[in-house]
Amino acid sequence: MGQWLLLLLCIGLVDCAYKRWLSNTNFGNPANWNAGRAPCGNDVAVIHDESAAVFLQVNTTVKQLLMPMNGEVVFGSDVVLGFTEQPDHSASCTPYSSNVEFNVTYPRDWFDSNNWCETDSETGDCKTIARLDSEKVPCMNDDVVYPSGNSFYVNLETGIDIKVNTFKITGKAYTTTSFQSFLSTDQGKGMFPLPNNGQRSSVTIQRRPCNDPTGCMCGNNKGEVLNRVCVIQRKRCTKAQCRTPLKPVGHCCDLCGGVAVMKFGSGFRFDTLVNGIRRNLIDGKPEYKDVQVITSKISEDEIQMVLLDTDGVRASQLTREIAKEVQNDINAGGFKYSVLSVRVDVSSGGGSTGPISSAQTAESIPNGEIAGIVVGGAVVVGLLIVVAIFVYRRKQSPTDELGFKVFDKISFKKPNFRKPRVEVPPSFGFRFGGPENVGPSQGFDNPMYGNNPLENEKPMDMEIMPSSLGLEQEEQPTFDSSRGFDNPLYDSPPLNESMFTDPSVVEKTSDLGSRPTSFVNPMAMVEDNPQT
Ligand SMILES: *[C@@H]1O[C@H](CO)[C@@H](O)[C@H](O)[C@H]1NC(C)=O
Ligand SMILES: *[C@@H]1O[C@H](CO)[C@@H](O)[C@H](O)[C@H]1NC(C)=O
Repeated sequence: MGQWLLLLLCIGLVDCAYKRWLSNTNFGNPANWNAGRAPCGNDVAVIHDESAAVFLQVNTTVKQLLMPMNGEVVFGSDVVLGFTEQPDHSASCTPYSSNVEFNVTYPRDWFDSNNWCETDSETGDCKTIARLDSEKVPCMNDDVVYPSGNSFYVNLETGIDIKVNTFKITGKAYTTTSFQSFLSTDQGKGMFPLPNNGQRSSVTIQRRPCNDPTGCMCGNNKGEVLNRVCVIQRKRCTKAQCRTPLKPVGHCCDLCGGVAVMKFGSGFRFDTLVNGIRRNLIDGKPEYKDVQVITSKISEDEIQMVLLDTDGVRASQLTREIAKEVQNDINAGGFKYSVLSVRVDVSSGGGSTGPISSAQTAESIPNGEIAGIVVGGAVVVGLLIVVAIFVYRRKQSPTDELGFKVFDKISFKKPNFRKPRVEVPPSFGFRFGGPENVGPSQGFDNPMYGNNPLENEKPMDMEIMPSSLGLEQEEQPTFDSSRGFDNPLYDSPPLNESMFTDPSVVEKTSDLGSRPTSFVNPMAMVEDNPQT
């Protein structure tokens, strides 16, 4: 029902867009390893102290796993991590043994456009349409998606009120308040680490899709948001290949081409303008096939059309044609486009008929502003490793402040001492999960995250909780809510708050509160003792 409603809203209305987060902290993602490939049977997988929580989502075999004391590997449902001494002859594996290091050691920026792609649906393909830099990151009418089956490490930065339409993390739709409480969980801190000053940017989930026929403003084309976007983006600007480049509102790099800014009157429709221009001036003209057109509403009564190509020649020519077409319509009474005035600026040659406000020159923020921290996560590599650490720690330093806390930004730096690593002996494998069809619980649940893990459990027991669900299923509660560990990877059901939820899923998970913990980690006891 809700899906239909949303679908209807998306049809025929401007700019209904999903923005999907692209990077993840998955073990199997080649981009997360310094070798450019995931570790295989000949490799020693090395995870550093500063690392994000590593999410193991596929069955994997390595030679060895080197963990820091404060590190975390989260197992997907029914996933097996195996260890072998046998040579791995598979094609993707180098024949000799090497160390392969997990290199997601700092959170990715929300305001980095490379981290987002625009899609038409939650799981749809990334679109390749041209956008202003400021519109490549989520706009206030966008539906933000952190896709299921992944784990993330995100720098929300600080001091900004990020506004979005909807916000979904691994299948769960959040409201402003539920996201706020998610951020205060250890899981939330792991994904969206706290910046140095302890305050993340706020995220307001407005539930206000774009339904204005005159278009919707992205909201990112000014002020601090544009500033942050451009600090990152400008490093990637290539030199413009025209004499007098332009800098349209909301864009960070110089462009060659033209900008037309139109003030519109009553009766204006965004789609009518865009489609009319395309039909009347662009379609069927081979000379314009390489010209990109970016149309945005930049204020309550202004539309900006940016036209660009490599040297700006065709694009500026087209810009002038557009201005002429619109001006002719204005002179004739504006019945076609309902535009009141148009001014243009082009990059080379003449034709400049008016000033175009240039994008604010954003001030540099120091690189060190990369906010975030390393969450000293739980070492969750499995029963034996856990025991190994447990023993190790006990011997090591009973007073050692336990790693399960949030470090300051300084943690991005390599510590000047090497923390001890735990080596997992070769030739042994373990898994989480169990027989099929016993319950909807996911593989395991780490009580170290809980507020009071010992509350109602036999602390030393290790239970393996059966699991039958695949990762692709979105709503997968794993926890007893009294424990406060809400792992969005295996989402709890977004009861009524979700716009996307399949109602059948909600039903299935209504007995959430009574779910037993599936895996009790004995470290939990150690961790909690100092506090009690
Ligand atoms: C990790 O290393 C690979 C290969 O060198 C590289 O492509 C990737 O961008 C790196 N990732 C990060 C997060 O630095
Ligand atoms: C991993 O292997 C186990 C058995 O070895 C199998 O039951 C499970 O489905 C596999 N999981 C994945 C994600 O392939």
